[in-house]
Amino acid sequence: MHIRIFDTSDDLARAAAQRVAELLQRTPNAVLGLATGRTPLETYAELRRSYARGAADFSHATTFNLDEFVGIDRTHPGSFRRYMDMKLFDEVNLDLSRIHFLDGMASDLGAECVRYERAIEDRGGIDLQLLGIGANGHIGFNEPADELIASTHRVMLHETTRRDNAAQFGGDPTRVPHEALSMGMGTILKARAVLLLAMGSRKAHCVERAVYGPLTTRLPASFLQTHRAVELLLDRQAAALLREPLPTGSVSSGSGR
Ligand code: PGA
Repeated sequence: MHIRIFDTSDDLARAAAQRVAELLQRTPNAVLGLATGRTPLETYAELRRSYARGAADFSHATTFNLDEFVGIDRTHPGSFRRYMDMKLFDEVNLDLSRIHFLDGMASDLGAECVRYERAIEDRGGIDLQLLGIGANGHIGFNEPADELIASTHRVMLHETTRRDNAAQFGGDPTRVPHEALSMGMGTILKARAVLLLAMGSRKAHCVERAVYGPLTTRLPASFLQTHRAVELLLDRQAAALLREPLPTGSVSSGSGR
């Protein structure tokens, strides 16, 4: 794992956005794996600014999002599709036909998962997967469990995760759907590169376990240790429990460079 530690979350977001913009410059038809949640908000804001000043061109890019709730449609304020439309898709020059999303309203959710997994393969796989991490170590909606399902699948959400998502459901966790569809850890680990962002002291414990801990389905993020090209972008609070020296190749200077 390559770890970069930043003094501020703004520095972190700029670095993450730069990584995406550079990929698009090098490979205009790159396949991006995207995440929602609070963590990447500032990264998407940076990407909007990069697009506005001509530093990022999405016109040939393809996107796949990690996950979506079951039972709400794309216009629902709590849907991840709506989040992405507002924070990125409607604001940059992505071709709508190249935006891929899990449909939580599909009549056959199992078939929807198979369709999604195939669509990723048909587009040649994901070049760069952006990830946040749950305070319980979840990745996408791969929650801690005795077993993890490798490919895209239907999941029951933990109460903590439903609480974490309550804001977009009128602040009421009971209105957050019980189920979601999510790429599996196998889907995520097939990405050619992974960029995990974590900010704040709430994430310090799971970041520490993801970096040093045993591989365990109880902390889905621990499986990222097996990937050849994972970069962790952390602010100082999220990195607080990491020990010096960091893994070879990591950087912890103030600028994150
Ligand atoms: P957050 O969620 O970015 O809102 O903290 C991260 C996650 O649950 O993956």
